[in-house]
Amino acid sequence: MNDTKYRVAIIGCGRMGQNYAEAYTTYPDTEIIAIVDANTQRRNVLGARFSVDALYSDVEALLRDIVPDIAAIVTPTKYMKDAVIACAEAGVKGISTEKPIAARLEDADAMVDACAERDVVFAGGNLQRAMNEVQEAASRLHTGEFGDIRGVNVHGFGGEISGGGCQHISVLRLFTNTEVEKIVAYGSPPEALNEETDEGLIINGSFRLTNGLTCSVFGTPTPCRGVDVWTDECLVRWDWNPPEIFRGYDKHGNRIRLDPNYSPYPWNEFSYLTGSIRSFLAAVDGNGHPWITGADLRQALEVAIAAKLSATRNSVPVTLPLADRSLALYPRPYRWLGGDATGKPQSIEEANS
Ligand SMILES: NC(=O)c1ccc[n+]([C@@H]2O[C@H](COP(=O)([O-])OP(=O)(O)OC[C@H]3O[C@@H](n4cnc5c(N)ncnc54)[C@H](O)[C@@H]3O)[C@@H](O)[C@H]2O)c1
Repeated sequence: MNDTKYRVAIIGCGRMGQNYAEAYTTYPDTEIIAIVDANTQRRNVLGARFSVDALYSDVEALLRDIVPDIAAIVTPTKYMKDAVIACAEAGVKGISTEKPIAARLEDADAMVDACAERDVVFAGGNLQRAMNEVQEAASRLHTGEFGDIRGVNVHGFGGEISGGGCQHISVLRLFTNTEVEKIVAYGSPPEALNEETDEGLIINGSFRLTNGLTCSVFGTPTPCRGVDVWTDECLVRWDWNPPEIFRGYDKHGNRIRLDPNYSPYPWNEFSYLTGSIRSFLAAVDGNGHPWITGADLRQALEVAIAAKLSATRNSVPVTLPLADRSLALYPRPYRWLGGDATGKPQSIEEANS
């Protein structure tokens, strides 16, 4: 580690933002220098809790005074686009958002482009893809340790396909090192298909991948709720935990689970956000790329939109990338607008603990 102490601004410091603030307070090479939050009372309480004096009600006010090295943007999704673009234009070196990144594809494009044009590192937040064990399982798949990939399935891709299903799409793309290029989907219940949001929407179907494989997509949990990838001998199973690895069969024909023997990850003593934040900071330092990027979240949104589009059009095949970038899929109101606007505000007592 070098001597850099990253100057971090937390932008949007509600329930999830406070997890970021905790993490950035803990690391030896980061310092929170500003908190931005629209809620005055919560902002003041958090300033005292995290010993931060520079408190702002909006991102423009922050950037007039301070350009941080790192902006952790954890506002409700509706406000992420403007915050990302303002920070990129102001010269922030590394920006992270949360999931889902946007509702409208062209908004996600604008965020990704604003960062790419200025060489800003753009990270994607707290996703399972950024767990060190998920990353290691993917590397071992890619180096051929388990043999050639023969098949892949997604399980439990429902209920919230942009806000939660982005977890599945991000792991699927990572494990297979491919993109989704064509989707045929079936959706239920009918009333959810008619909504602008992804609330309660169950999507089943198949995704064709750029490596030629076809991935079956099960909308409700099977014995697994994640992503299975198999080779001739092995099964790698991500099910919201460090991936399990199976190799060979016992005398009854059942798969034999191996000890995956994952390498120790030095940052694991800190917090569950560690893989996402430490890979992001390493990238800002010129080493590698974030284990979950803003571009990954954009791809996940695009797959979710395409899946719903196919389902609403009687399972018409939909090819990606989507030509119509004005297409949108809104997350549930809490994610889009936050707790204060949707009747679930975080209490001051909770924010203070
Ligand atoms: N990755 C995950 O596991 C995960 C988990 C929870 C939430 N999230 C995402 O995190 C985001 C925030 O969720 P939350 O649970 O923290 O919500 P929250 O309502 O608890 O907090 C949002 C905070 O943002 C502030 N805010 C609202 N508009 C703002 C603006 N324009 N500028 C600055 N601050 C603003 C609010 O005052 C509030 O304090 C959502 O997009 C949600 O989908 C992700």
